[in-house]
Amino acid sequence: MRYANIHARSLTDPDGFWMEQADAIDWHRRPSKALFSDNAPLFEWFADGQLNACHNAVDRHVEAGHGDRVAIIHDSPVTHSKREITYAELRDRVASLAGALRAKGVAAGDRVVIYMPMIPEALEAMLACARLGAIHSVVFGGFASAELAKRIDDAKPRAVIAASCGIEPNTVVHYKPLLDAAIDQAAHKPYFCVIFQREQEVAALTEGRDHDWHAVQHGVEPAECVPVAGNHPAYILYTSGTTGQPKGVVRHTAGHLVALAWTMPNIYGVKPGEVFWTASDVGWVVGHSYICYGPLIHGATTVVFEGKPVGTPDAGTFWRVIAEHGVVSFFTAPTAFRAIKREDPAGALLADHDISSLRCLYLAGERADPDTIEWARDKLRVPVIDHWWQTETGWPIAANPMGLEPLPVKDGSPTVPMPGYDVRVLDPEGAELPRGELGAIAIRLPLPPGTLPTLWNAEARFRKSYLESFPGYYETGDAGYIDADGYIYIMARTDDVINVAGHRLSTGGMEEVLASHPDVGECAVIGVRDELKGQVPLGLVCLNKGVERPAPEVARECVALMRDRIGPVAAFKLAAVVERLPKTRSGKVLRATMVKLADGEPVTAPATIDDPAILDEIAAALRGLGYPRR
Ligand code: COA
Ligand code: AMP
Repeated sequence: MRYANIHARSLTDPDGFWMEQADAIDWHRRPSKALFSDNAPLFEWFADGQLNACHNAVDRHVEAGHGDRVAIIHDSPVTHSKREITYAELRDRVASLAGALRAKGVAAGDRVVIYMPMIPEALEAMLACARLGAIHSVVFGGFASAELAKRIDDAKPRAVIAASCGIEPNTVVHYKPLLDAAIDQAAHKPYFCVIFQREQEVAALTEGRDHDWHAVQHGVEPAECVPVAGNHPAYILYTSGTTGQPKGVVRHTAGHLVALAWTMPNIYGVKPGEVFWTASDVGWVVGHSYICYGPLIHGATTVVFEGKPVGTPDAGTFWRVIAEHGVVSFFTAPTAFRAIKREDPAGALLADHDISSLRCLYLAGERADPDTIEWARDKLRVPVIDHWWQTETGWPIAANPMGLEPLPVKDGSPTVPMPGYDVRVLDPEGAELPRGELGAIAIRLPLPPGTLPTLWNAEARFRKSYLESFPGYYETGDAGYIDADGYIYIMARTDDVINVAGHRLSTGGMEEVLASHPDVGECAVIGVRDELKGQVPLGLVCLNKGVERPAPEVARECVALMRDRIGPVAAFKLAAVVERLPKTRSGKVLRATMVKLADGEPVTAPATIDDPAILDEIAAALRGLGYPRR
């Protein structure tokens, strides 16, 4: 009943509930109340409080006598290195970097873009910004220059902090040339860049603009934590929407800290001083919340893992990391387990490692298929907990509150709504559907603390994307149902977003890239089922009239164009030229029908189709790409 009581109270008495949770963090000035609804349907939390995120994540633990506790373990099979950083060391390193940024003019409210691989310096850069009240915007390393340029133009950073390179299993990713190209392409020019030179690659620095990470800190005064208002943006994180222009999700400082502080013991069951590991990337929301801020706010030890589930060097790497560092709670995406299961179906490599420290495995980022859950549970012999959330929410909407009150697991469901989330299933007109019926999943406003208050410089887009379809609700963009026991099931997206290896991508954005090819007249990108990555994108293009180039050549160019414009993370490898696209008589491209063809599901031509014969042509093109898969 503990969960049920807490959830009910969070909805009936949000102010009382969240003010109590606010005790878990340190305030420079306590807020007068939790919820600020004067600007409804836009809500804010703890707006008149004052606090600092870096103080909460770092300094307060040192001040409480835990300076010798390990804050960060960097485990990097791709560079064959491991190191530990204590809370006291982390404070000194972050204060020094923040001092250098401040000496170069970075102040509260300035934006700083961070483009770094999975190294502790990425977290230090985030925390140094937080220390000054600067707003960071981390860009995932797998995005190409053009995507980085879009984010630079939108966030208009005073500075960019980057590493010279990232290390992928078979290649060195040259971050610095990608950054240089992005700054060239962007209309906004940052005043300066700080470059962390890795020993695997020393990048050329641009005189006057770029500063070496160590040199820039030489002789500067360490910076103290600057208190900011509770509704001061801690960061902007860009995520895919329906167009090629990413959405800048804003996270306010106080709500972020209070919500994460609630989740660490109650969802993840972690105690201060224990080791918590999230195998994701700081470029994603999961990395912000559970590689950086969540574990550190809680005084736990976080693992920064620079490697892959397989191939670095083998499918036993995860078990080695858990055993070596004594991980108690582990969080990753289902795709990582699918990769391991494919390489080592019997889980034989587990025999080499003692993973008895592990209490629970958490999965998110995409639908956790029951096969993968079953395999993980059988091999690891711990509960496997699926939980559902989004970049927008910053922490789980639905989960099994393992630390509070473990609830029975139902495979295929991320369990029940977390405090403050009033989840409903609606029909297209906004009427609530009975239990068990599939519909759009929406959350009654206000959303709880820690969730997005708006989009960066795009309030109108925020309202249109999330608040207008169902007045009084936040539209999640996911479809699903709630069963008789109140368990939530997430079945599909209701928009053009696809999920590739736990990464969220916009098919609309990809279509914009294909349409920019000079020979392409029309195009469609669909997400097709993939055994490993869940979904992968597939593009079908029609050539402009009069273009008589060989189809395979154009298809190859489309693949290269996508890699160049969006980056390797798009995993766009499938493209074919077709004569026509299937459309309704009113001209709407029938993407869902093509997805069914590619996935090998039964297809009946929609009554509104312009010309049913086109479906045979599309089926032939898909067969040419190997779809449906056997
Ligand atoms: N910087 C630069 N390039 C990157 C990158 C980064 N940080 N991360 C990935 N890439 C590149 C990869 O090298 C790959 O390039 P390639 O086309 O030249 O091979 C491409 O982007 C796709 O990467 P990825 O999605 O990682 O696929 P993969 O085939 O290399 O590995 C998995 C497959 C399943 C092992 C991998 O996707 C994985 O570990 N997924 C976990 C997902 C995850 O953590 N999601 C976070 C949400 S919780
Ligand atoms: P992102 O913003 O990148 O975290 O992606 C969020 C989207 O990923 C959600 O809207 C869902 O579509 C999907 N997603 C995340 N977690 C889950 C889950 N546990 N089950 C099903 N889908 C999920």
